[in-house]
Amino acid sequence: MKALYFKNFGTSAVLEYGELPEPVLQADEVLVKTEYIGLNFADIYRRKGEYHIENNKPYINGYEGVGKIVKVGSGVGQFNIGREVLFVDVPFANAEYVAVPRDNIIHLPQGISSQLAVSVGLQGLTADFLAHDLSKPNEGDQVFITGISGGVGQILAQMLISEGISVYGSASTKAKKKLALSFGVKEVFPSREKGWSDKLAGKFDVVYDGVGKTLNQNISFLKNRGKVIFFGMAGGTPPQVDLIDLLAHSKSILTGDLWDYLINFEERQQRSQRLFSYFLNEKIAISEPTIFSLADGKKAHDYLEEGKNIGKVLLKP
Ligand SMILES: NC(=O)c1ccc[n+]([C@@H]2O[C@H](COP(=O)([O-])OP(=O)(O)OC[C@H]3O[C@@H](n4cnc5c(N)ncnc54)[C@H](OP(=O)(O)O)[C@@H]3O)[C@@H](O)[C@H]2O)c1
Repeated sequence: MKALYFKNFGTSAVLEYGELPEPVLQADEVLVKTEYIGLNFADIYRRKGEYHIENNKPYINGYEGVGKIVKVGSGVGQFNIGREVLFVDVPFANAEYVAVPRDNIIHLPQGISSQLAVSVGLQGLTADFLAHDLSKPNEGDQVFITGISGGVGQILAQMLISEGISVYGSASTKAKKKLALSFGVKEVFPSREKGWSDKLAGKFDVVYDGVGKTLNQNISFLKNRGKVIFFGMAGGTPPQVDLIDLLAHSKSILTGDLWDYLINFEERQQRSQRLFSYFLNEKIAISEPTIFSLADGKKAHDYLEEGKNIGKVLLKP
């Protein structure tokens, strides 16, 4: 099968595309022929050797994809063959065929296309646990989201707005700002420029930070008793935080990883059904994904790493 892989950690130059053996199926697994594969920031951290990756040489990156079941292990019913499924936490996804444990399958409800499902899968489930498990802002709260037009940011903003929360955020380009304003964000600040952040000191109940290097700025945006939800480092490693200063103003930092919330089949179904219902009820719309061929994986990594994307980047085998 064709796959995107690398032998050593490093820049996008380490990525190679070529022929690798198909996975060997275990009894409780299904073989999925991928239609689209999600590219995520975690894949960049993994390629650099900064995040957990299955110890397998060559390394095949990627944990998210959608496609049809073409074969089942001896412990999985044949009736599953031909079903279209999503997965968001299965290794070796940057390939034409992926062995997916039965428990990791996410079923697509009617009305959710495969392309939409994989465009919102990992990022949507992240937005879902950030909004419903980690933070739970109250109606009328003021919240701020860094990188609000990113994949997680777009979905999170719309989830919160639909629950009566006032959402503000930052974005780097006019197009990204326009997009965020179009789904009801109150104001969007220029993320990569200086001179705007001082006036936001002490204004927010909750700040969501997936950029990382912005952590101290985001702490300054909090009211006393406010919370920063730190969930990623798209802009680089977060700086040291002054805990005594946090204590003095009753500010908190909460953090979490989606993997710790997707712990079994039932959690995956319940969380994904809650996510998909926002789309089925037309409470959330997202920008079109940018699609690269799997063979152009290097270009796709550069595009994401340079922050050129608006929303999801997909790879097509
Ligand atoms: N905790 C979890 O379980 C979990 C799960 C999934 C994702 N994540 C994290 O969530 C974050 C967002 O992911 P995503 O998939 O939504 O990514 P995304 O679509 O690329 O959005 C990330 C945003 O971060 C900003 N950004 C990117 N590179 C930057 C840089 N070098 N400096 C400053 N800002 C930069 C960009 O906003 P502007 O260009 O508008 O500034 C971009 O829109 C990532 O950190 C990812 O690792 C966490």
